[in-house]
Amino acid sequence: MPAFLVKGGNILEGEIAVGSSKNAALPALASSLLFRDSPHFLNLPEIEDIKRMNELISSADNQGGVDLEIAKRFRASILAVGPLLARFGKASFPHPGGCVIGARPIDVFINGWEIMGGKLIESGKTEGGNMIYSIEAKESLKGCDYTFKVQSVTGTEGIIMTALLANGQTTLRNCAMEPEIIYLAEFLNNNGADIRGAGTTEIVVTGRAGKLLNAIAPFSVPPDRIEAGTFLILGALAAKSLEIKNINQRELASLFAALGEAGVNIIDTKNGVIVKKPEKINAVNIKTKEYPGFATDLQAPFSILATQASGQSLIHETIFEGRLSYAEDLNRMGAKVALMDPHRALITGPTPLYGRELQSPDLRAGLAYVIAALIAEGESKIGNIYQIDRGYEKIDERLRMIGADIRRIES
Ligand code: EPZ
Repeated sequence: MPAFLVKGGNILEGEIAVGSSKNAALPALASSLLFRDSPHFLNLPEIEDIKRMNELISSADNQGGVDLEIAKRFRASILAVGPLLARFGKASFPHPGGCVIGARPIDVFINGWEIMGGKLIESGKTEGGNMIYSIEAKESLKGCDYTFKVQSVTGTEGIIMTALLANGQTTLRNCAMEPEIIYLAEFLNNNGADIRGAGTTEIVVTGRAGKLLNAIAPFSVPPDRIEAGTFLILGALAAKSLEIKNINQRELASLFAALGEAGVNIIDTKNGVIVKKPEKINAVNIKTKEYPGFATDLQAPFSILATQASGQSLIHETIFEGRLSYAEDLNRMGAKVALMDPHRALITGPTPLYGRELQSPDLRAGLAYVIAALIAEGESKIGNIYQIDRGYEKIDERLRMIGADIRRIES
């Protein structure tokens, strides 16, 4: 199994460009099932989740079936189900897998599909034990008025895509407001759809009564705001001067505020920003929230910063209950992380970190471990890096370019 070997302590310097956004590309790719012909994608990131989504879409048949083994491997496979149901009147899919960061239910999707006229059947289990569902609409799907129980990013994207081919108008309330939803709606609108309100909590979709979209305008994948935020944190921890290019600052306002409070100075340049390690990092409390709040995907990397801050930082994870699972590993590295309950960790710093053998728990915490290893004394070995490759393109090569000592090995 491949692993990363990381020698800590190097001072980082130079420039790094932010890659294309996984979470913007995934729904746009899934939406190609709503097109008569194939839409064109520019700047697709070369990462494992995108490969899986392409494989999944290619495996789709005109009965709404997909390769269940591929689908169960990544959570975002659920994004293909709405388009399949909308186009073929039925879809079968397993309970999706992916990061182990919490319960990850799919009820907001199912409730939405049922209100539009779909009927769900549980039809057995995959070999790995995932429940397999099939959903079928006997008549054409009907536009509806649907309020999400919780603000869900992929839930909002999935129901928009389903409503697009339904009969009549759909009004969605309590929608998630993440930028990826705006990108998806703009892409679909550029190709003939009528979706209004993306980026607000109320979205109105005009149903096309089964009429597929014609590919006119390509989707150019925007920069990944989570990768950009993670590089900012890395720069604040380890850089003499790190220029981050291809960054959309507007999408990172909550992180900028937290870094400002921590005493990290970020300077605008022509192509991005420059960040450097401050003399002292202040402790900062953060609470993850739906956009535009502090992104849950930046919580683990920010916690590494908190281990180097003077004083106590309270990290409050409100979105997922399994996202503080790094506490034990960080403590083994020398951090002082006290878990108050499944949602809150108190981190006392600064504490030196020491290289250890680690297993990447999920995508975002995996890169946080790489950051911890880069500032630690000695060598770390990080396993289960498929999780990191799911979302970050050639991360080892790009980090080496700014002075990091990181190697990919077959262990
Ligand atoms: C998206 O996941 C992202 N994934 C996640 O990034 C991100 O962490 C998350 O949004 C929150 O920002 C993609 O965009 C592909 P949610 P998603 O539905 O849509 C609850 C990464 O590493 N909920 O917005 O699956 C859920 O339990 C990933 O790139 C229900 O209760 O997250 C959570 O508490 C990890 N019922 C809350 O909603 C449902 O049916 C928000 O989750 C669905 C969700």
